[in-house]
Amino acid sequence: MADVSMRYRPLGRSGVKVSALGLGGWTTFGESVAGQETVKDILCAAFDAGVTFFDIADAYAKGESERMMGKVLSEFPRHELVISSKVFFPMSDDVNDRGLSRKHIMESVDRSLRRIGTDYLDLYFCHRFDPNTPIEETARAMDDLVHRGKILYWGTSEWTGPQLRNVHRLCSKLNLHPPRVEQPQYSLLARTKFELDVRPTAVKHGMGLLLWSPLASGLLTGKYDDGFPKDSRLSRLAWLRKSEFSEERRERIRRFEDVARRYGHSRAQLAIAWVAAARGVSSVILGVTRLEQLRENIEALKIPVTKEMSAELDRIFPKPGFTEYAHLVARRNARRVRGKLRSLRRKQ
Ligand SMILES: NC(=O)c1ccc[n+]([C@@H]2O[C@H](COP(=O)([O-])OP(=O)(O)OC[C@H]3O[C@@H](n4cnc5c(N)ncnc54)[C@H](OP(=O)(O)O)[C@@H]3O)[C@@H](O)[C@H]2O)c1
Repeated sequence: MADVSMRYRPLGRSGVKVSALGLGGWTTFGESVAGQETVKDILCAAFDAGVTFFDIADAYAKGESERMMGKVLSEFPRHELVISSKVFFPMSDDVNDRGLSRKHIMESVDRSLRRIGTDYLDLYFCHRFDPNTPIEETARAMDDLVHRGKILYWGTSEWTGPQLRNVHRLCSKLNLHPPRVEQPQYSLLARTKFELDVRPTAVKHGMGLLLWSPLASGLLTGKYDDGFPKDSRLSRLAWLRKSEFSEERRERIRRFEDVARRYGHSRAQLAIAWVAAARGVSSVILGVTRLEQLRENIEALKIPVTKEMSAELDRIFPKPGFTEYAHLVARRNARRVRGKLRSLRRKQ
């Protein structure tokens, strides 16, 4: 493994520290990376390079990611690791095997612990906001898990600023452990929600920020400049290709190559270095299918991100402004109205 000196950063205002780069298992371990030996090679190389934060979820490969990563993680000293898992997405057709009800949370945590092979999770995330469960029910269930020692900290993922504000207000009123960490998407291609909505609220409430998809599923590496290579993520997953890829994005990513080359880095490295240097960020969660990708990406920590560099990147991937903010609020209001209509229809 390359000679990288890993940095460890506090998780917001809590006492625990996480490695500045983490490693996750979404769509990889148990899916595109099916062999246990490869999972072992990648996780061991990451751990040797100083990665101690490993991010999993029950839904990743329907539990297989937890099993495969857990098998390797059990070979490392437990106290050196920060292991996370998540709950929310359906795990079967059962009506209660989903969401953030007390029942689903209590049953899911035990299943995750068994699959990973650990007595406790360092971090346990509400994988999305659940509009069908009262927030107090979810917060009380998470608080109970902390008291029982099954989880050390709880967090949220992809919640909005107002949702984070509400849950902190509630936890403070009821004297419950509040969520200590948010896991949002953030990359050069996904700036608006993070910069305008999530980060200001999360930082104000002392939450750590652990970022996902720093390379927009690989798009920012430039691997899709001339088509969709066989076995790459966007060639395998049509739904993701539809949401992530566009000709306009491809054009910008080609321009990005000039900047990266001028500074002597790959696009993957510069894209990761940029998010890792962003204000309030505790850790950037990497996703890799091969050892070489890990080796390349982990070098990002050596790159000093200068003001000049950031200004050049802003010209290709513009900072969100008033128009983006207006769209964000309009989308959120439309969602709220649709939710209200749905619940009114259910009551009729
Ligand atoms: N909380 C949430 O809702 C949420 C959602 C998504 C992800 N996450 C977490 O965040 C982690 C990282 O997300 P992500 O996997 O989407 O990260 P990403 O860095 O945006 O994409 C990773 C993928 O890009 C490709 N890649 C990575 N480095 C490369 C390189 N140097 N050269 C060429 N291709 C490269 C690989 O795919 P191929 O080789 O297959 O092309 C790899 O699996 C996940 O594992 C998960 O733990 C959380």
